[in-house]
Amino acid sequence: MSSPPSFVRAPVRDMAGYAPGEQPGPGERVVKLNTNENPFPPSPRVMRAVREVDEEALRRYPNPTADAFRAAAAKVLGVTPDMILAANGSDDVLTIATRAFVSPGGTLAYPDPTYSLYPVLAQLQDAKVTAVPWAANYGLPIDALLATKADAIYLANPNAPTGTFVPPSAVAELAAAFGGAVLVDEAYADFADDNCLALVRRFPNVVVSRTLSKGYSLAGMRFGFAVAQPQVIAELLKVKDSYNCDAVSVAAAAAAIEDQEYYRGNWDYVRRERQRVSAELTQLGYAVIDSHANFVLAGVPDGRGKDVYLGLKKLGILVRFFDKPGLADKVRVTIGTMQQNNALIEGVKELAAGAEKASAAARPAADKDKPDKDKQADPAEHRAAAPAAAVRPADKADRAEAVAQAK
Ligand SMILES: Cc1ncc(COP(=O)(O)O)c(C=O)c1O
Repeated sequence: MSSPPSFVRAPVRDMAGYAPGEQPGPGERVVKLNTNENPFPPSPRVMRAVREVDEEALRRYPNPTADAFRAAAAKVLGVTPDMILAANGSDDVLTIATRAFVSPGGTLAYPDPTYSLYPVLAQLQDAKVTAVPWAANYGLPIDALLATKADAIYLANPNAPTGTFVPPSAVAELAAAFGGAVLVDEAYADFADDNCLALVRRFPNVVVSRTLSKGYSLAGMRFGFAVAQPQVIAELLKVKDSYNCDAVSVAAAAAAIEDQEYYRGNWDYVRRERQRVSAELTQLGYAVIDSHANFVLAGVPDGRGKDVYLGLKKLGILVRFFDKPGLADKVRVTIGTMQQNNALIEGVKELAAGAEKASAAARPAADKDKPDKDKQADPAEHRAAAPAAAVRPADKADRAEAVAQAK
């Protein structure tokens, strides 16, 4: 490619930009377990709210602060509306926060590995990043984070891509000792047992960020929000885009957050499946990190994460692979419907059987003739069954079952 135009700012020219997970083309039939979307449709109340948006609401500019959503969310979360900032996805919350908290030439710190958007946002702000390795067992490295003297600390909790969770007591310890902003990115909080929302009342420097992309099945709608003390929200409002949430998304997001009963059923289902997928992968020799999110990070038995990612892709199953130190021996798998998860497990088994066949082929002839090798399943059988199983309408039955069980 030709070199970037010289009139583009140097930090922009020098940066790689955020690399989103791949999205299949229209009509492509894949089991999509790579970007942590929710496998269930949004609440019927959301679809009704979208259909009922008045044409006048499209002709006019939307309410600049998405007050209908703020009112609905405040009730559900037990805070006041002036403690909420609505945004165009939680990526927008992160952009607004970085503009407000991180000075050009300053530093953004975060435990690493984590969400790969953080360094991109710091670069755009002409700021430095200090990536601090997690403490043992993905504990919060409080002293090392404080030692960075950063303007702000970002903490994804549950973390991506590990799915690990830091207890609110540790975050409180950090917030109490730190003079800058502590942004707790709770994109996956709906799938966890606990969260840091209560810290917002105790600490003026804590900002909690949430999204409707994961728990509320609205990744395509783009809606997220921040919760902080009113005087912090007032500052964040100054630096957001003028109309950062459109009228349709506000109606959808308000209806979504009001329908807690519907979504709780889905969250419980995902948690149950997370446990099952973790157990099955462990059984197959994968080193699965205990997850509090809607995905699991799994160490591949022979450490070749890329081979498993590519092998599953050939079978029509998309998972996420990060070619980075500490992650290249793993794959990250979104928890889907039971059928999708079964397709994944079958795919993993098929890859293992293929690897076993290949290594048997490389062994001396006498070894190859052992009867157990002859009993290997035909990989083609699995291939036919796996992706098809994931797209058949049985998914709907799963959801109905999940909701029925949740009641
Ligand atoms: C930790 C984390 N934060 C934020 C986001 C962005 O979510 P949104 O769709 O709300 O922009 C993601 C998306 O994958 C994420 O993993």
